[in-house]
Order: sequence, then structure tokens, then C-alpha cells
Amino acid sequence: MLAARPPMGWNSWNTFGENITEELIFQIADVMDAEGYKSSGYEYLVIDDCWSLKERDKDGNLVPDPKKFPSGMKAVADYVHQKGLKFGIYSCAGVMTCAGYPSSYDHEFQDARLFAEWGVDFLKYDFCNFPKNADCRNRYHIMSMALKASGRPILFSACNWGEEESWNWMRSIGAHMYRSTGDIFDNYRSFLNIFQSQLEHFCQSAPYCYNDIDMLTVGMYNQGNVAIGKPCTDSEYRMQFSLWCLAGVPLMMGADLRNIKPEMRELLTNKELISIDQDRECRPPFLVNKDFVYVEHEDKENATEPLRRLDDQLFTFIKHLSDNEFVIAFYNLFEEERDITCIFADVGLPFSSGYGFSMKDIFTGEELGVKRDYFTAAVLGHDCRLYRCRLVNCNDGGN
Ligand code: GAL
Repeated sequence: MLAARPPMGWNSWNTFGENITEELIFQIADVMDAEGYKSSGYEYLVIDDCWSLKERDKDGNLVPDPKKFPSGMKAVADYVHQKGLKFGIYSCAGVMTCAGYPSSYDHEFQDARLFAEWGVDFLKYDFCNFPKNADCRNRYHIMSMALKASGRPILFSACNWGEEESWNWMRSIGAHMYRSTGDIFDNYRSFLNIFQSQLEHFCQSAPYCYNDIDMLTVGMYNQGNVAIGKPCTDSEYRMQFSLWCLAGVPLMMGADLRNIKPEMRELLTNKELISIDQDRECRPPFLVNKDFVYVEHEDKENATEPLRRLDDQLFTFIKHLSDNEFVIAFYNLFEEERDITCIFADVGLPFSSGYGFSMKDIFTGEELGVKRDYFTAAVLGHDCRLYRCRLVNCNDGGN
């Protein structure tokens, strides 16, 4: 069964763009295997756009660029498989990929067969150069069927950037994950905007078909292909990674794992956070704050809403996990430290219930004991604090 949990892996686009070679893929496979990524759950190694020649061959088949992939794609897939990983590739539902390479419009069944012959396990399927009069839902459905007909289990990672409200129909045409937003860039505002834009749609993301809010930029520090704006700080990357985990979305890394800062490797392989992402009930986070508004700075003149910027806010989430566990998560979007309080009555646990939460700090591992009524944390600017919580009957004196 594919995608019983949110898929995890690495994708070449964020750092390398068109600069991809088999050498690079072999090295990334080696690192994923040797440095704890595979054992943390990252299993798909995905080559994005720019892997093929600009023309199909005389039989209409896609051809890997022999300068970039001299051994051919089957050999690349074999190498990745020998490392105990799965191999992903990229095509597009339009008439050309975003970078101008041939894509699968009207070649869906032929391409899916070729991918299966190579040993492909995952297809990212993009939306550039899509003909104006074509039917988006139908073209994604065709590729979904072509993959099923290929005879190989291939995870279908649809990427139409949320067009036609993809969260409403991608599950029904067989996709295992669907990109629901435009591209991420390696800066703070980009990942926050992306997360915020999907908050209301995460309830439709569930086992076997997940909302995909794009590849992570954690650990990139503006090295690579999606560097726009100010690089993120370590704490901002902590916010990004933990937001993706709270949302229970696919975790596709994008940094150059060969040269990543040890702190970022630790973050990406943080067992507690990954277990939250991979929780089997896959429930989205519930936003506890009632005053969530988003008003752009530029709207100041005409704003009828209270004037607040996205980056002047405090967020509290609760996420229900399986086995009666919960995560309470605080995000401070101010630049300075702030206290954030979660009143338990706001998350369904009034004092009169007689219950409290036994709490553990997810980043430090510290057990905080049983808290009743409310909990306050001091959260540094542009940082987050997450707590794993268990329901406790305080009248029993139980822990
Ligand atoms: C975009 C897509 C990116 C990347 C790029 C390749 O449309 O959203 O994730 O795949 O195309 O050209």
C-alpha cells in the first residue's frame, strides 16, 4: 500500500535546479543511507526537472541526458535501490516541463511504462505549459491510471499548485500527494505564507493522499535554486520543520545533505517531530487562537480589519495524536521574546473537568510534570516551543 503515512524523502530541485548528475544522485543516496536519514524514515530520492534531453527518441520515448546520466536511468534507480531507498522522477502534465523539457501530455501511458521499466517508485507530476483548453482533472486522472497500468507501484505526487482547489478532488483521482501552493522560497515569509494558506485545507489531507506544501528548505541558508530574500535563521528552520510535522504533510528535504550543518541534520532527523508528522491518525493541527487575521502591510490605507501583520502574532496549536496524546505548539512571530499561554479550557479541558496534561518539552526532552488550567511558555522571537502532552486525571493524583 503506497503512502499509508506522509511520504518522506529528498528532491533535487531546491538546491540543484538543472545542475543534476548521476554522480550527485549517487552521493545523496550514500549520505541518506550512511547519515541517519534513511533510518529516520526518508525513503524517496527524487530527481526533479531537467533530467532528459530536449527531444524524445524516434520511438517517442523520453531520453535521459547522457551528459548528466551517462549510465542511464535504470542504473541510477538500481544504485538507489541497492542503498535501500526508493527512486523518484519528474514529468509534467503540460506540453513542456517548466524548464522547457519534453513532458507527458498525450504520452502518459508510454512514459509510465518507461518509468516502470527503469524501476521508478515515485512520479512528481508538474503543471507548467498546460494547454488552455485541456481538462486539468482529466489529465491528472490519465497519468494516475497510466501509473496503475504500468504494473509497478508508483507513488503519484501530483503538483498542480492547488489549481482548481486540488484538495477537493486529487484524492478521488488516485493521487497520493498533491502540491497545493506555488513554490516555496528559502525565506521566513515564504514558508509561513504557504503553511497559513493551507490551514483550512489540512482536514482533507489523510492517509493515502496528502496535501503537499512543498519541499523543505531547512538547512539551505540560501544556497541553491530557491534563494530569494533573507536566509532563515536556525530557529526559523525549526519553525518550518515543526509546522510541516504538525500539518502531517510529506517531508521532502531540499538541502545539500552532503554539506549540511550538523544542527540541521539533527533537526531533520528529530525522532519526536517525525513521529508527530507520521502519526497514524494524521489529524491536522487545530489553531487555538481566535484572533487569526492576515492583513498585508500594504493594505494599511484601506484596511477594515484590525491592523496586524502576519509577523506580529502569536500562534497556539493543538494536534491530537493517536493513543490519547497531544501536541501543544507555540509560535512567536514577533522579533522579540514573548510569553504565550494556552488556557486548557480553550482546547476542551476546563479546570472543572478534573483533568490536566502531563507535559514534555519536545526539543529539550524535559518532563514538566502535570499542568492544570493553563500553561505559559517564554518563546524567543521567530521561534517555537512544542510539548507532547498526555491526559491525566488529577483527582486520582495520577501522572
Ligand atoms: C515548478 C514546481 C517546482 C519544480 C519546478 C521545476 O512548477 O512547482 O517544485 O518542480 O517546477 O521546473
